[in-house]
Amino acid sequence: MPTSLMLPIDELVRYRRHFHAHPELSYQEFETAAYIERELRAGGIDELRTGIAKTGILATLRGGRSGPTTLLRADMDALPISELNDVPYRSTRQGVMHACGHDGHMAILLASARALAARRSEIAGTLVFCFQPAEEGPAGAKAMVQEGALEDPHVDRVFALHLFSGLDVGRIGIRDGAFFASSDRFILRLRGKGGHGGMPERSVDPIVAAAHLVTIFQSLVSREIAPKDPVVLSIGKIESGTTYNVIPDSVEMLGTVRALDAAVRSAMPERIERMVQGFCAAMRMEFEFEYLWGYPPTVNDAVTNDIVRAVARQVVGAGQADDPHDIVMWSEDMAYMLEERPGSYFIVGTRGPQLGALPQHSAHYDIDEAALAIGFGMMTGIALHG
Ligand code: NI
Repeated sequence: MPTSLMLPIDELVRYRRHFHAHPELSYQEFETAAYIERELRAGGIDELRTGIAKTGILATLRGGRSGPTTLLRADMDALPISELNDVPYRSTRQGVMHACGHDGHMAILLASARALAARRSEIAGTLVFCFQPAEEGPAGAKAMVQEGALEDPHVDRVFALHLFSGLDVGRIGIRDGAFFASSDRFILRLRGKGGHGGMPERSVDPIVAAAHLVTIFQSLVSREIAPKDPVVLSIGKIESGTTYNVIPDSVEMLGTVRALDAAVRSAMPERIERMVQGFCAAMRMEFEFEYLWGYPPTVNDAVTNDIVRAVARQVVGAGQADDPHDIVMWSEDMAYMLEERPGSYFIVGTRGPQLGALPQHSAHYDIDEAALAIGFGMMTGIALHG
């Protein structure tokens, strides 16, 4: 393995603060992409495909020795949040904020690409630096795969990291197999018969039915699914009714379902609908049920994870990895790339003594920038591992 690269700490911080101050929402990362393209070209990387899935960039760096083709990915989008931090690099755009750390992901990958370009001859194989739009919901990774991100050159394996406020700076979270959960949604509409709140016998009350269903769903999770298979079913919205004494005609419920096991996940719509069907028949209720598939579980390959483990030992030292880290019930569209190719998704701690402990997606979210150097060490270490 070649000796490690010089750490471009000023560049990492400058990039991260630039991205932080200029956030863009999903599929609107045009200025972000233009900035990245300019910096890649200035760093001597000119085999670029731009406009992939609207704003995505694929930058190819062919090494001086033969070896596998490795894709390293960073996501580019920010969130519809108004930043409440008072820092020199705060968001200059009202209502838009990098509150998930994607600014740091881009800074790490961009600085890594430029550092690796200067050491091209030592690289065994080909590197593809993937800057991906729209992670926060619209599945930009899936769109990039559909537009050929894993071909030409044919990608053998994929890696990505996420900065994570639940871990201290200096720690890396690694897990074989399923790490992050799937995220699916459903809409359930119950239709009864409205009437006077004082004469329920002349109505069919959908609110009572909805209240029962909220708890029945939890017994589905606890009684039909094995305790070893984590599943979360949460009802996030219930809408119905107008006033105190009117039984409404209908109720609309919105829910999210998360799972780690593919078979458990795929059986959830049938299980939920069966319960709704039986219960609604008993309650004289009609219903409509719509299930919306979202991100699949993010599943890591044990072989590529061994590369992450070896690099982590060098970057943060032996014993500094949470391995296996606890499962995370967020979801992540890197899952789509990991369905197509073996690879690893791991987390890098950002919690420092002063900054970086607040949850991701908070309007006060920030990172301890010492985490950038660790992310850089991990990405370049993986790239040079061969
Ligand atoms: Ni994120």
